Amino acid sequence: MSPAPPPATTVCVTGASGFIGSWLVMRLLERGYIVRATVRDPENLKKVKHLTELPRADTNLTLWKADMNTEGSYDEAVQGCIGVFHMATPMDFESDDPENEVIKPTVDGMMSIMRSCAKAKTVKKLIFTNSAGTLNVEEHQKPVYDETNWSDLDFIYSKKMTGWMYFVSKILAEKAAMEAAKQDNINFISIIPPVVVGPFFMPTFPPSLITALSPITGNDAHYSIIKQGQFVHVDDLCEAHIFLFEHPKAEGRYICSSHDATIYDIADMLREKWPEYHIPTQFEGIDKDIPVVRFSSKKLVEMGFSFKYSLEDMFREAIDSCREKGFLPFDTQIHNNGENKESILSSQEKHSNITDNQEKELLPNS
Ligand SMILES: NC(=O)c1ccc[n+]([C@@H]2O[C@H](COP(=O)([O-])OP(=O)(O)OC[C@H]3O[C@@H](n4cnc5c(N)ncnc54)[C@H](OP(=O)(O)O)[C@@H]3O)[C@@H](O)[C@H]2O)c1
Repeated sequence: MSPAPPPATTVCVTGASGFIGSWLVMRLLERGYIVRATVRDPENLKKVKHLTELPRADTNLTLWKADMNTEGSYDEAVQGCIGVFHMATPMDFESDDPENEVIKPTVDGMMSIMRSCAKAKTVKKLIFTNSAGTLNVEEHQKPVYDETNWSDLDFIYSKKMTGWMYFVSKILAEKAAMEAAKQDNINFISIIPPVVVGPFFMPTFPPSLITALSPITGNDAHYSIIKQGQFVHVDDLCEAHIFLFEHPKAEGRYICSSHDATIYDIADMLREKWPEYHIPTQFEGIDKDIPVVRFSSKKLVEMGFSFKYSLEDMFREAIDSCREKGFLPFDTQIHNNGENKESILSSQEKHSNITDNQEKELLPNS
């Protein structure tokens, strides 16, 4: 924990109980921030205990009930805050009504939070945790992506690939917020992370680890997502959120991605570092020589931010957390014969389903 907290600054974190939200809350508390964490059900101890047990939570953390489906829901939590970190997002990819259950709440919720910020008159920066779904979902992948790139909405609507409604929701929310921020004079910053990997202390299985650890678990439905993947450690991502909040010149979009790797690169690393797991050497339908697709974090790095963690670090810490919580066995040497695979997947399913409609973070090419 950092020894000398800065003068207390009050910030709000939406979606605070989640994988990234809870890590950010921890880091903000460590720095001495006063944190207002919004969750949909503060009374549900199973979903908030990991927050209230954090160091400094007793003095610096309060829980606020808020839902993106309810206009004005964030007014009270945001009132008096200098910064808002907006992480909450509905991710129900199985929705029968994606327009009303995913797209509308994400866009309306974003706008409702913008209005709460405008009403509060205290908010200097609104930091939106965006998604790579706004960046590179298009027919042909470019070798390198930067903040000037936008996913192709027509392509997404025409293909309706898995997670399409999530990509649409984030694109529309970001565009609407950018416009509104100009009118309301709020500094709106959009952070674009790829697959987020690393340790966790939330009680359920983080959605993005289902994808990242799929070469271990054999969850082949997720292979295409990391076919040409990009990755960032959860701690680097949260540090980047705080860095951009504190940086006086931060503005606009920022990709926050430290590593680019194909699924074969990931598999090779996992096989070498964790020989106790059975890792496939071939992924059906994915060419061994598939090129890496790069996400450039140049804009963030040139502001002075540096990434701390290697690809191995993020996977090691994710695996250790999963093992500690019983979400991942210590070896899977027999899963290729079919015996272990089902039980690993059903265990992850069970744990990830504890939260309502949580889903994996889906990236393009799925
Ligand atoms: N993990 C990744 O790889 C990744 C990559 C790129 C971007 N992101 C973005 O990062 C953010 C956090 O993701 P995460 O991985 O931490 O996901 P997560 O663990 O599922 O957390 C998201 C939180 O959003 C809240 N939420 C869902 N629907 C809501 C609604 N209608 N109103 C209010 N809150 C709602 C939930 O909290 P309660 O149930 O407690 O209310 C949930 O804990 C999201 O915006 C996501 O798009 C994640």
